[in-house]
Amino acid sequence: MDTDLAGRTALVTGAGRGNGHRTALSLAEHGASVVVNDVDEDVAEATATEIREAGGESVAVAADVSDEAAVEAMVEHASAEFGTVDVLVNNAGVGTAGPFLDADYDDAFELNLDVHLRGSLNCLRHTVDGMVEAGYGKVVNVTSIHTKNGVGMSPQYDIGKYSLLGLTKSLALELGREGVRVNAVAPGWADTRMTDEFSDAVTEQILDNNPLGRFAEPEEIADAITFLASPASDYVNGHELRVDGGQVPIDSWRLDDR
Ligand SMILES: NC(=O)c1ccc[n+]([C@@H]2O[C@H](COP(=O)([O-])OP(=O)(O)OC[C@H]3O[C@@H](n4cnc5c(N)ncnc54)[C@H](O)[C@@H]3O)[C@@H](O)[C@H]2O)c1
Repeated sequence: MDTDLAGRTALVTGAGRGNGHRTALSLAEHGASVVVNDVDEDVAEATATEIREAGGESVAVAADVSDEAAVEAMVEHASAEFGTVDVLVNNAGVGTAGPFLDADYDDAFELNLDVHLRGSLNCLRHTVDGMVEAGYGKVVNVTSIHTKNGVGMSPQYDIGKYSLLGLTKSLALELGREGVRVNAVAPGWADTRMTDEFSDAVTEQILDNNPLGRFAEPEEIADAITFLASPASDYVNGHELRVDGGQVPIDSWRLDDR
């Protein structure tokens, strides 16, 4: 299987922690030069340093993906370092969500759309032209277990991820004609900072509804993203690859509040 990314430049957003961190390491292990983005400069720098110390090529660029000017500057910086971005992984994400009936969570609608949808659009807007010009590119959008059936009491997160899935399907049709494959990876609940805050009741329900009886490891999400970023998946386009152990979605992530 050809998973060689030598000579390719990859941009991974939200790569300072969790799934993005492991993805940046994996893409570098497969030969890519990796631009490590995160809104948190310290963790972005730490990931890039880890890659360089392992013998890979990497640069950290701190930016909030929802800020288009910052994204434009980030891609300019990336291109100056490593040339055209060939692989874009839209991974940056936030977990803030709550019941629709609780107006305290109203701001979270905007936050989720800003980060998951607007942030991905900004990164696409400033990288896809280069891929089209080269006639080859790979985009991997990170959706979620939430796009399997929705999850109660998290409509803000669900609209962010379902809109990213819609964008994936639509762009696959348009950009496939230009040699740019657009796919998604839908992680199940993974062992990252995002799930640290789950109560024991929620964790128990997740594990009861998972045939494998465990959370995903970030490495397992990174493997799927690496596959979709590599030549091995050149005939895969418009696909959402679920890496969730066959998880049955729970009906609410705030069961203890009911
Ligand atoms: N962990 C899970 O259970 C799970 C399940 C399904 C999907 N996901 C998705 O996987 C992706 C990675 O999540 P994770 O679990 O590794 O979470 P995480 O919190 O460990 O890492 C997310 C990273 O994104 C960064 N980030 C947040 N907003 C940003 C912004 N505006 N601009 C740039 N960077 C930003 C954070 O600083 C953080 O380092 C997210 O898209 C998330 O929605 C996670």
